[in-house]
Amino acid sequence: MDLLTKAVRGTQDILPRDSYKRRFVEDIMLKEASLYGFKEIRTPVFEHTELFDRGVGDGTDIVQKEMYTFNDRGGRSLTLKPEGTVSAARAMLEHGLFNDALPIKLTYITPCYRYEKPQAGRYREFYQFGVEMFGAGAPAADAEIICLAKTLFDRLGISNLTLEINSIGCPVCRKNYQAALKKYFYERKDNLCKTCVDRLERNPMRIVDCKNPECQSVAQNAPDIIDFLCDDCRAHFDAVQRYLDNSKIEYKINPKIVRGLDYYTKTVFEFVSQADSQRSLVCGGGGRYDGLIEEIGGPSMPAVGFGVGVERLLLLMESQKVNIPEPKPCDLFIAAIGKEAGFKAFELAKKLRKASVYAELDVAERGLKAQLKYASKINARFCLVLGESELASGQAEVKNMTTGEKFNLGLNDEVFVQDWLKNFAQ
Ligand code: HAM
Repeated sequence: MDLLTKAVRGTQDILPRDSYKRRFVEDIMLKEASLYGFKEIRTPVFEHTELFDRGVGDGTDIVQKEMYTFNDRGGRSLTLKPEGTVSAARAMLEHGLFNDALPIKLTYITPCYRYEKPQAGRYREFYQFGVEMFGAGAPAADAEIICLAKTLFDRLGISNLTLEINSIGCPVCRKNYQAALKKYFYERKDNLCKTCVDRLERNPMRIVDCKNPECQSVAQNAPDIIDFLCDDCRAHFDAVQRYLDNSKIEYKINPKIVRGLDYYTKTVFEFVSQADSQRSLVCGGGGRYDGLIEEIGGPSMPAVGFGVGVERLLLLMESQKVNIPEPKPCDLFIAAIGKEAGFKAFELAKKLRKASVYAELDVAERGLKAQLKYASKINARFCLVLGESELASGQAEVKNMTTGEKFNLGLNDEVFVQDWLKNFAQ
C-alpha cells in the first residue's frame, strides 16, 4: 500500500484489539472516583494560550518547550491542552460551580498534548485521568486524593508502585527557599543549561525539575524546600502523613519532588514504578494548588488533585500481566442462503439485539462457506443457517461452534427470542 501519510509521530491509533482495555481501565477509574463523590467534567481540547501560560506557568518546560500552540483563523492564540487541571479550574469558575456545595469534586479523562521526545510511555498525544477537588484546604483533602489514587492502582491490579510525597510550602516559606536556591545555583551557574540560567532570577525552583542531565546533577545537592517549611505548612504536611499512616498507606518522603508545573503549593506526590534497573517512571502525580484559582482570575480557593496517564497504566498492567477481561464474543451468527432467508435473518438479528443479545448476520451477500468462515473468525459462540427449508418449516438448527453440538430452535417470532434467552444466553 502506498499510503498518503501515517499517524503523526508520538500519536497512536487505538485499535479494537486494545480499545477494550482502555475502556476497562477508564470505567474502573470513573467508578472509583464516583465513590468519593467526583462527578465527570468534559472541557474542550483547546483553550486560550494565556490560560496555560498563567496556570501551568510560563517558566515551566511544558509552556516553554512542549505546547502545541497555533493561531486560529481569527488570529487568536490557542493551545491544545497539555494537562487537565487548569481547564477544569477554568470551567469550574466560568460556570460558577463554586456557588454549589463545597468542596466541588470533578473528574475527567481527557486527551493531552505535549511536544516531548516520544518513547515508551511518553507520547505527544496521551490521555490523562484526573480528579480535582476545589474548596477544601484541610490536610484530609490531600489524604483523600492520595487514598483515591492508591485505591485506583490497587483496583486495577497494579503493584510495586512507590508513593513518594513532599511538601513544597507556600509563598511565605518559599521566599527563604528561593533565596537559598538562587545562591546555590548562582555559584554553579556555569554548569547549567541556557534555559536554567534564564530561570535563575525568575523561578529557580524550575531548575530542580530540569530534564537536562547536567542541571540534574547540579540540582542533586541543592537545598530542599522541606527544610524551609513555615509552621503552617509543616503542620499540614505532618497531618497528611498521619492520615496516610492511620490508613496504612505506605509512602516515602522524597524532598526532591517539586513537580513540573508552577501551580503547586504544600503537598505534592508521585507514584513511581521501576521501569528497569536504571529508569523509574512516574505514572501518576498531583498535589495541592492553593494559588491557581486566584491566578486565573477566581476567588481565593484551595484545591488539590491528581492526574495519571492512561497509557502508562496500561503499560504497567501489561508488564505485570494483569488480566483484562476480553469483550464477549458474538452470541449468534445467522447465516442465510438466498434473498428471503436474508430478510428473515435481518429481522431475527434485530429482535435478538433488542433483547441485548450480540447477533451478527451477513451483510455482504457472500456464499454460505464465506459466511461460516466469517462466523468462525469472529469467534461466534453459535451459528444458525437459514435456507428455504428452514423458512418453510419454521425450525432451524443452531450449532455450538466450540463443541459442534446442534440444537433445534423455532423461528416463530413469538418464541424465538425467549427460547434463545432460555437455552443459549450466557
Ligand atoms: P503531570 O505529572 O505533568 O501532572 O502529568 C500527570 C501524568 O500524566 C504523568 O504522571 C504521566 O502518567 C502522564 N503523562 C505526562 N506526560 C505524558 C506524556 N508525554 N505521555 C504519556 N503520559 C504522560 C499533571 O499534568 C497535573 N495536571 C496532575 C494534577 C492533577 N495535579 C493536580 N491535579
